Amino acid sequence: MAGEPRTVAPARAAPAAHPAAIEVRSLVKTYPRGVRALDGISFSAARGEITAVLGPNGAGKSTLIKAMATLTGFDAGSIGVDGVDVRTRPAEVRRRIGVVSQSYSSDPSATGYDNLRLQARIYGLRGDRLRARLHELLDWMDLGSAAGRLVRTYSGGMRRRLELAMGLVHEPAVLVLDEPTAAVDPVAAEGLWSLVTELCRDRRMSVLLTTHQLDEADRLASWVVILNQGAVVVQGSPQDLKEELSGDVVAVRLTDPATARQVEAAMKRLAQVRNVAWTGAELRADIQGDARALGSVLEVLTAHSVTGPVSVSRPSLNDIYFRHAGGHR
Ligand SMILES: Nc1ncnc2c1ncn2[C@@H]1O[C@H](COP(=O)(O)OP(=O)(O)OP(=O)(O)O)[C@@H](O)[C@H]1O
Ligand SMILES: [Mg+2]
Repeated sequence: MAGEPRTVAPARAAPAAHPAAIEVRSLVKTYPRGVRALDGISFSAARGEITAVLGPNGAGKSTLIKAMATLTGFDAGSIGVDGVDVRTRPAEVRRRIGVVSQSYSSDPSATGYDNLRLQARIYGLRGDRLRARLHELLDWMDLGSAAGRLVRTYSGGMRRRLELAMGLVHEPAVLVLDEPTAAVDPVAAEGLWSLVTELCRDRRMSVLLTTHQLDEADRLASWVVILNQGAVVVQGSPQDLKEELSGDVVAVRLTDPATARQVEAAMKRLAQVRNVAWTGAELRADIQGDARALGSVLEVLTAHSVTGPVSVSRPSLNDIYFRHAGGHR
């Protein structure tokens, strides 16, 4: 299990008159054959801000998105979207939420325009209103000249922009994006992020996104929720999360099991060393204090005849994983 949920900053509570964009309370979801994808998670995503949900493969991110978008049920807990309860008023939630799924939902054998038109018709747009909205979205997503082309001829970035347009067709108050930059090159990803930032800043839309990219979350989100094995392991602003990380991170690769066990035990006995954890065959630890602390770590390695490369780095948001979700061998 991932351990007790932690918040490094005071939990945010939305005033009753202005409900949070998304309020998740004690959410539990078990798939058939007993896979507990969400194990009682709680957090809120503030209005008009970007909230990022991070976590390794299988953490439960897509399950969470599907539950809030009414695409899958859940066993216990509650989700409010823009103040509307997902379970009791799903149709109203669907009007308020726009979803861009991890897997594509556009039809590759139809044109971008036809995909978007179908989506608009599902939401009841007709005639001049429909044409005006499509024109606006295609223009905004820079797809105007490609609108008549079959989607299968689109680049990864163009397809993601089309999917984004499809999620926005009904002008939702809340937009949820499940790994919008997966399999997108860095330039196209940057384009997507500036569109998302614009949605938030200029159109006061609330955005919740999932990503594996901690640096993206750091740059864009005002609140970060880290999931592991269906539980919230830590949440806070990127600033809070990083301030919690002081000292350096030392990493060393240990392939011999006996040596690995002895070095791990010896490191754990050092006063200035904390959070000793494994990532595969790499032992990582936080060192507090000055060069003497590093010296004592190197002494341990020398004493066990470890001669391989040792790296010492400043902590990044990545180290949150090791500290809170932390690996075991
Ligand atoms: N339809 C399903 N039936 C059974 N188990 C499922 C189903 N969908 C997901 N799971 C399981 O639920 C857990 C959470 O999966 P989920 O797809 O939500 O994770 P994720 O964080 O989105 O991962 P990724 O980063 O790979 O997209 C995993 O153990 C997964 O195998
Ligand atoms: Mg997923």
